[in-house]
Amino acid sequence: MSTETTPDGPTLRDAERKFLLDPYLDWAEGEGVPIHEDFALDMLALETSPWDRFGLNGAICHLKGRDDFLASLLYELPPGGASAPMAHIYEEVIYVLEGHGSTTVETPEGTHSFEWGPKSLFAIPLNARYRHFNGSGREPARLGATNNMIYLINLFRDPAFIWDNPARFPDRMGAADYFAGEGEFYDVLQGRHQWETNFVSDLSGFELKAMPTRGAGGTSLRFILADGSIGCHCSEMPPGTYKKGHRHMNGVVIFAVTGRGYSLLWYEGDEDYHRADWRHGVVYSPPDQMFHQHFNLSQDASRYLALQMGSVRYPMTQGKKDIWAPDGMFAKKADEGGMQIEYEDQDPRIHALWLDEMKAAGVDPKMDAFIPG
Ligand SMILES: [Fe+2]
Repeated sequence: MSTETTPDGPTLRDAERKFLLDPYLDWAEGEGVPIHEDFALDMLALETSPWDRFGLNGAICHLKGRDDFLASLLYELPPGGASAPMAHIYEEVIYVLEGHGSTTVETPEGTHSFEWGPKSLFAIPLNARYRHFNGSGREPARLGATNNMIYLINLFRDPAFIWDNPARFPDRMGAADYFAGEGEFYDVLQGRHQWETNFVSDLSGFELKAMPTRGAGGTSLRFILADGSIGCHCSEMPPGTYKKGHRHMNGVVIFAVTGRGYSLLWYEGDEDYHRADWRHGVVYSPPDQMFHQHFNLSQDASRYLALQMGSVRYPMTQGKKDIWAPDGMFAKKADEGGMQIEYEDQDPRIHALWLDEMKAAGVDPKMDAFIPG
């Protein structure tokens, strides 16, 4: 038996070890593309390299706040390029970072095609055969992909099961007009309203619904994409505002969509805050039970997209059923066993820092009605 050791002890990647194996990490290392790891990553700036499996250029993003389900991958279609035709047994949600192109999806009813551009959002129905095309002969296109391959690779450890699986899921294809951006709205209750579709042409302009419990004038909407289990919501902070601090389990992948700003992250009892600045292109993920709070520094509204395993329709875990129940955890304050810090209970340094940042940005704060004097 060969034992490879590092200054920290035996390496976890030793193929002959019989404990602490991680087939997903082994798969990632074997793909031959750059692996980037951090709290936050700018997907518009990351290095990519050819990725034979997908027929494009790409990279793997190990966000520090990821969980045991969702992987973050970056796909880059070169000018005039197209991805390899494929189908897979994991669900995947795509957020378009830059470029214009189209995707074709084969369903039992026929082939559907839709055109996307920056800030489009869509999902590939489970195990449907599909292909992405860059519509430009001059510019690359970058897609941020969030999928639940981690759990499936760790469970089955068989690429053929995942990428060459004959199972069909006709009930998961969605209505034909869902590929054209049509959909259905389900009026449930605050924070659980759902827009069901397969494709959102421009997430930056989509109408959201009032959600005042999460902060000053905020709006939000849940998207049910291709009837999948990857939870998806878009939230917006009006100009001059920020959200309430909160915490929850890891594995929520956040893409900045409009505006610019920053998030503070901290564990209970920490003296200082970790800071992540964001604008379109940046993806980040708060680690497990780490408090985080999002601050708008823009003249305009700041909007973000959040993806996670489990949705308001299919929560998947007891923890998420508890959060999204009508009397869920956001109904309680953090010091009462809940997950959210009300404005009046937050560290005064948080508001002071934001006021300084707003002054430097030349943007008028509009939080007076929400912060007790
Ligand atoms: Fe959060």
